[in-house]
Amino acid sequence: MSKSEISRREVLKAGAMAGAGMTAVGAIARAAEQQPGVQAANTGTPPIAISSANGLRATEIAVDLMRKGGDVVEAAVEGIVPIEEDPEDTSVGYGGLPNELGTVELDACVMHGPTMRAGAVASLQNIKTPSRVAKLVMERTDHILLVGPGALYFAKMMGFKEEDLLTERARQAWLRWKTRHPRDNWLDDDEIKMDFPMQTGTVTCLCLNDKRDLGGCTSTSGLAWKIPGRVGDSPIIGAGLYVDNAVGACGSTGRGEANILVSGSRIVVENMRHGMTPEAAILDVLKRVVDMTTSPRLIHRPGRPSFDLNFYAIRKDGAYAGGRIYRGGFYAVHDGKENRRRESVYLYESPNA
Ligand code: GLY
Repeated sequence: MSKSEISRREVLKAGAMAGAGMTAVGAIARAAEQQPGVQAANTGTPPIAISSANGLRATEIAVDLMRKGGDVVEAAVEGIVPIEEDPEDTSVGYGGLPNELGTVELDACVMHGPTMRAGAVASLQNIKTPSRVAKLVMERTDHILLVGPGALYFAKMMGFKEEDLLTERARQAWLRWKTRHPRDNWLDDDEIKMDFPMQTGTVTCLCLNDKRDLGGCTSTSGLAWKIPGRVGDSPIIGAGLYVDNAVGACGSTGRGEANILVSGSRIVVENMRHGMTPEAAILDVLKRVVDMTTSPRLIHRPGRPSFDLNFYAIRKDGAYAGGRIYRGGFYAVHDGKENRRRESVYLYESPNA
């Protein structure tokens, strides 16, 4: 049995223990600690790109660009751009589901390991590719985050064209929501239970090149039917994305409010700095999220949130993983040999089990 098989067994066993009400994270972290030098379950050969399940095109493009000598952030952004431009993906860029007024508002960020620089935009309207704008914020300004009209002004100054981002499909979905109005994001004094699942969606892409440099990008249209100006985790450095060239990188998709509260991507990277495998690092943060979730409107039953949150992580040595609260998630990875989807590790079988 190889070291990687040992580690994979521990991860699966820990997942099963979690299903039985035990702490998966502790089990995985202990397993990693008891076997110094144990490799993570999955390790690739750079260049490697890892993405959310909707990012299979992104990982293919990103690895191709890195093989041609492209920079790690350029590779992540150009991997994500076709998904932002795709009208069929209603969670990102053009065709994304709008806010409660029917206006599409986009968030994105990038982070570059070799220079430890970052750029981000939030509540950006009328520009299809917020990832490219975020990259220019990093490259052409002394700032990190531009929002709303300021982000649009900057994009126009950089030569981006304004376009209507609301596709007919997204408009029809918004109309259905508006007509039935099943819920909105305004809370009553009593904490009314919200419908599950909430409609979030995002794409993230993390890149490791053959010089072992790291970079990443996260992009989203955010929570559907959000209050105008709502910004989730995606453009927040440390939440939607974090890169440390000495350690690794992490990106996230899912309920942004939960991720902001735990500073998830930053903590996953810190966990890896302290020796955890990507799997253990992710599951530790997810367990913290579960423990922090106390509001009745966000709880399915005790110890079980009514939402999910996904992390994707890669370590400098090429170890990688995707993980989420509930079973059934996938991530995309090009491990240097093949480009495919893999199942994410998880804490619980389901909100009920
Ligand atoms: N994770 C995307 C969002 O909450 O906006």
